[in-house]
This record gives sequence, C-alpha cells and structure tokens, in this order.
Amino acid sequence: MSPRGEGDGMSGESSLDAFFGPRPDETPLGMVVGGSLSSGLLVRLDARLSIERLAVGRYIVIQGTSGRKFFGLITDIALDSTNPDLMRQPPAPGDAFAAEVYARQVAYGTLSVSPMLMLDPEDDQPRPNKTVPAHFAPVHEASAEDVERVFGAEDETHLFLGTPLDMEAVHVNLDLDRFVERSSGVFGKSGTGKSFITRILLSGIIRAGRASALIFDMHNDYGWAVKDEGGREFKGLRQLFTSGQVSVVTLDEDTSRARGSKVDRVLRIGTQQIEPEDVEMLSGLLGLSDVQTGALPYLRRRLGPAWIDRLLSDAPDEELAAMVEDERIASSTLGAIQRKFEFFRRMGFLVPGAGDDAVDDIFHRLNQGTSVVLEFGRYGNTLAAYILVANYLTRRVHERYVRKKNEAVGKKADEPRPLVIVIEEAHKFLDPAIAGHTIFGSIARELRKYNVTLLIVDQRPSAIDDEVMSQIGTRVTCLLDNEADIRAVFSGVSGAGALREVLARLDTRQQALILGHAVPMPVVVRTRDYDEAFYKWLGAGEESSADRKARAKKGREALYGE
Ligand SMILES: Nc1ncnc2c1ncn2[C@@H]1O[C@H](COP(=O)(O)OP(=O)(O)OP(=O)(O)O)[C@@H](O)[C@H]1O
Ligand SMILES: [Mg+2]
Repeated sequence: MSPRGEGDGMSGESSLDAFFGPRPDETPLGMVVGGSLSSGLLVRLDARLSIERLAVGRYIVIQGTSGRKFFGLITDIALDSTNPDLMRQPPAPGDAFAAEVYARQVAYGTLSVSPMLMLDPEDDQPRPNKTVPAHFAPVHEASAEDVERVFGAEDETHLFLGTPLDMEAVHVNLDLDRFVERSSGVFGKSGTGKSFITRILLSGIIRAGRASALIFDMHNDYGWAVKDEGGREFKGLRQLFTSGQVSVVTLDEDTSRARGSKVDRVLRIGTQQIEPEDVEMLSGLLGLSDVQTGALPYLRRRLGPAWIDRLLSDAPDEELAAMVEDERIASSTLGAIQRKFEFFRRMGFLVPGAGDDAVDDIFHRLNQGTSVVLEFGRYGNTLAAYILVANYLTRRVHERYVRKKNEAVGKKADEPRPLVIVIEEAHKFLDPAIAGHTIFGSIARELRKYNVTLLIVDQRPSAIDDEVMSQIGTRVTCLLDNEADIRAVFSGVSGAGALREVLARLDTRQQALILGHAVPMPVVVRTRDYDEAFYKWLGAGEESSADRKARAKKGREALYGE
C-alpha cells in the first residue's frame, strides 16, 4: 500500500531521514484516506515516517490527478490503529521487535489537513479550493518553492512580514493594498508581539506610500525609541523615516521631550470644541447615568460653546440657576455632571476657549502623505483621556475625509489619500454596547467608502462587537488562550474551526497566524525581526526607488534616444 523508498525502512533513522527535507517531491508523507472540503482531509502517514517530526501549522501539497496540486495546512496530528485491541493489548514495554512490527502494520499516524488552495497546471496563480483530491492521492511536505509560489514575490506593495515555521528562507508577503483597503486587526495576549508587528506593518505601509496612518499611541510605542524588558532599544517610526513621512504630535510635551522624542506639534484642544457626542463615549468611564448623559445636549444648547467652561466655573451662573429653578434640570443631575466633569480639569491638554487649528493641521498632514503618531505621554494611563482624544480627532478627521471624498466624486478635488487609523485597546471603542453609534463602529462598517480604515490592536477580541469583527479583513493573531477570544478572531471565517488548534499552539511571542484579505491563504509565521537589518531594509528602500527611477530613465533614453 505505502509507496516504498530506497532501503527497507527497518534499518533505522538514517533511511527515514531521507524521506524528509531535500527531496520532498519524491517521497510522500502519506496519502489521503478521507475527509471533506468543509471539515478537512484525513491523511494516513506512511508507516516509515516519524510522526514526531511533523507539526501543526506546516504546509503540505497534495498531488491530485491530471496535474492539479492542492495546498493545505496541517491542523491536527493523531495516532490511530487498524485494530482497536491494540489499546488494550499494546506490545510489552521494551519489546522493540513487537513495537516495530505493530508500527509497520496496525498502528499509524494521521494528519488532519485543511485544504486551502488549488493550482492547475495551466494556472499561474493558485485559486481558493473548491473541491478535494481523490482517495489515496499522495501527500507531500510543501517545498520552499511551493510556498513561495503561493505567497508571491516581495515588491513595493508586498511586505515581507515573516517566515513560515521551519522555512526560514521563505518569505510570507502581505499585499499592502489589500491590507489597507479594509479594516484590519492585530490580536494576541499581552507581550506576544502585537506592538512589534504593528510597527513592522506601519513601516511597510509608510515605506510603500500606500496610505497615511494616524496612530493613537497610548503607550508611547510608535513614535520614538522603545526599550524591551531586557533593556534593548528599538527605533520608533519617527526615527526610521526622516524625510517628513512621519510627524509626532504630542498631548504631553514634557514626557515626550524627556524621552528625547522629536515633537512636531503639541496638541491642545479648546474646551469650546468639545461636543456632547465627544463626552457620550465616556459616560461609562466617568460614571454618567443615562439621565445625566441625556442632559448634555440640552446643556450645550442652553449654555453655548463655552458650556464646559461654564459648568466647571466656580463663579455663580444665573442661567444655570434659572434652569434649576424652572425645573428644566434637576439640581442633583446638574451637580453630578459638574462633579464628574472635574475630570476635564486634570486633562492638561484641554485649554479654555476655542483652541487652535490642530484638527485642520493634522488632516492636512495626513492628506499630504505624512503619518501622524499622536503620543499620549502620561495621559496614556488614563483610559478616558485616550478615548476622548481618539474619538474627538477621529470624528473630525473623518468628517473632512467624507467632505473631500464627496468633492472628489463631484470632480472638485483629488481623492483623499487612504488613511489607516490605529487604535489600541480597541474593544473599549468597539464594545457591542457602543459600537453601533460611535465613529469607530461606522468606519469599520462603511468599509473603505471614504478611504478611511481601522487597524485595531487588541488583547481581547471577544469584547469587540461581532458585526465589527466580521468586517475585519485581515487578522494577524498572536497567541491567544482564551476560548472566547479565539472564537472571535475566527468569526465570519469559513472553515476556521480547524485553525483553532494552530492558533492555540503558537509560541508565546513573535509568532502569528495571518488570515484574510491580504494573504492568499492562512499562514503561521515567525514574525520578521525588528532590528538593525530591518531598519537598513527600510532605508535601502528609499535609495533603491531612486535607483529604480534612474534605471527607468536610462531605459527610456536607450529606447527613444532622448
Ligand atoms: N518582531 C520582533 N522583533 C524583535 N523582538 C520582538 C518581535 N516581536 C516581539 N518581540 C519581543 O517581544 C516583546 C513583546 O512584544 P510587544 O511589546 O510587541 O508585545 P505586545 O503584544 O504589544 O504586548 P502588550 O499587550 O503588553 O502591549 C518585545 O519587547 C520584544 O522583546
Ligand atoms: Mg503593545
């Protein structure tokens, strides 16, 4: 039954070795013995191979009839036997001969394989799988060339993000255009490498000039240098891109300067700019009841743009007194709002009055192709500050994008430049109770209608609204161990069940499962190192594009004799 290799297999390890590695095309791992398209294929391992050398997350290629090849991912590994008595009557311990005989005839290993793509001989691109290989089709470990063929070549718009497990030489490349076209997410437990992956993704997007990014940098992770637990220092985006591609805007100038960060602008928000909608998202965090939240639009209407200043003021306010007098608002409600608004006093980035042109300036930078890292400094420790500012800016920047896009449709302006908005702790913005009526929820749902998408970074995807999760086009997921979180990451992905085992077995850091819009099939990678070599590659990109232009110019001259 099993195809035979050279040697009789009895002679031990060295002949087994020959079946792996150098010539995977020639000796199958085993053959397809069952399964289905939806639930995955069952592969019986060749008895001569050591099951222990396989791992979930690796690729296999199945040779179908008439030259068609199927690509799949190993999603589970199991032991089985043709004789149920084997479990009750295993060979005596130490009886090597019996064990060997059983292992060759009754006991065997099986693989569960998720078929993902198929490639016909006449195709140059693999296509999503719509059928399964026939019974007994031979199954091989995929070669580096096979995998490379699936993930395409690295180029300006395809970012090398990592290498498949046990294939250091192969690059898994992410299609950046597709990545920014829909909202995307980076998920994983704390300390698994989310911020590092996000920095690599953003570097790639900025380097390729595919979109601008507005990064709400809660923990000062993106703009300037960060140190890891071991004291190693890593560069931030503002250090890596020095010709104006990245600006740092800070809410907390002192902290940014103390960290040595170059600051391009300090953000001050005028209290008169703040609208009830900006405060509504904070009602949970500030402890505003429904009645109190409901009173805010009324207060804004009656008190005018200076409503917050007036509510915070210690000076007597006749109008407020009259409102209580007339029973327009209960004095207890008003008192509670005033007490809870004390929070604004601690936000040093808020200034009384109308404030400056910060929103226009930030929009302008983004639309010119400059990414903006908004550093929160010490305010990053206050979730309400993070939510207030992210919501405040996003609403206004988005509004300008909508206007610009509509003008572009009416041919009065250029298309606004694609924008990716990065938020951490995304579930605080997108929890089911609020996702329906916040700006972040609408951006996720409206897809790329206005050229704006989200990149959400989160450790608790299960707390994000289902509808929003189902709109997340590309998901880069590091280790998650909570069942609900794992389920959430796969929501809306067909045939995802089998990938759960893969996800639950990732290393605790620097490994990720990538699936969705920007990759042709799900893939587990060891994330590329974020180090000197990476910085050099980023810099080299700038040079080589100049070189490329020079070369193209030479080519034209040669052709047209200019
Ligand atoms: N691509 C990488 N290159 C180099 N080091 C990495 C990489 N990915 C992860 N690391 C290491 O793992 C550590 C944790 O990564 P990171 O800070 O990105 O985790 P995180 O998921 O963002 O954690 P948290 O949820 O606490 O913010 C880093 O400090 C770094 O030492
Ligand atoms: Mg982080």
